[in-house]
Amino acid sequence: MAGRTWLAILLAAVVICYIYFDGYDPESLRGARVIVTGCSTGIGEQMAYHYARLGAKVIITARREARLKEVVAKMKDLGAQEAIYVAGDMGKAEDCERTIQTAKEKFGGLDILMLNHMGSSFKKGGPFLWDGDMAFIEDFTNINYLSYVRLASLALPMLEQSNGSVVVVSSGLGKVTSTFVSYYSGAKFALDGFFGSLRQELQLKKVDVSITLVVLGMVDTEQSMNSAKVMGLLDVAKMIAYSAEDAAMAIIRGGATRQRELYYPWMMVWPLTKLRAVFPELLDWLELQKTVPK
Ligand SMILES: *[C@@H]1O[C@H](CO)[C@@H](O)[C@H](O)[C@H]1NC(C)=O
Repeated sequence: MAGRTWLAILLAAVVICYIYFDGYDPESLRGARVIVTGCSTGIGEQMAYHYARLGAKVIITARREARLKEVVAKMKDLGAQEAIYVAGDMGKAEDCERTIQTAKEKFGGLDILMLNHMGSSFKKGGPFLWDGDMAFIEDFTNINYLSYVRLASLALPMLEQSNGSVVVVSSGLGKVTSTFVSYYSGAKFALDGFFGSLRQELQLKKVDVSITLVVLGMVDTEQSMNSAKVMGLLDVAKMIAYSAEDAAMAIIRGGATRQRELYYPWMMVWPLTKLRAVFPELLDWLELQKTVPK
């Protein structure tokens, strides 16, 4: 074979190694004390099942208690060392406090804080141009940004004790903007800003708590299909979406191996975010191809 072919094979092998040999050890999660927020459906629910199979001790949260009971029952069947639910609204400070307090009381500490909930979701029926609805954006930002900061702040003392991890589930829209989702992009960019700064401060203090920012592309969940609809991209989204179960496993690996950022699916989101850094006008131009909704 020609030298160039060998070079291509070698490069491909290096890339594959880089992607798959991340040092992930499933055994490291046996007995790990985990909180996962937003577990009634979608990726959160799938993460709860994966952690259960891996033998972790898990606290899950969501608003609907009846649904949480079903998820907990299935987690126990799958082999969770412990599966506990906290029914609550993460938009409320006292429910955040109750969640973290539960880890302290039941597990005596915490290893992984998986921030995944998504509240007061997309405006129904879009696409929407920003309309100045301050009541909506205050509520949206509270549950999709401030509550992440609150939960992490409350959990940090326990995570410092265990050299633990915070995983922040964000979105491609937290790295790249799009029309019709200003309130969503605003909250998701804020997560990157806050947790990026916090990561640096922890390193400065020589505190060994990892922070993983998860930048998700289209995953087949109700929430992301709603977002696609709001953006006017529902048909495309249905075609390209990845399964919530696979996304959930990728996120768990990313947290367990203490990755700084995880792009999933990599091909869908990583190039786009780099494009914004280098050719932002190109992305603006792409948005211009949409029509202004009436
Ligand atoms: C956390 O890390 C520090 C320093 O890296 C180490 O001394 C300590 O034993 C670790 N604690 C745990 C619970 O692993």
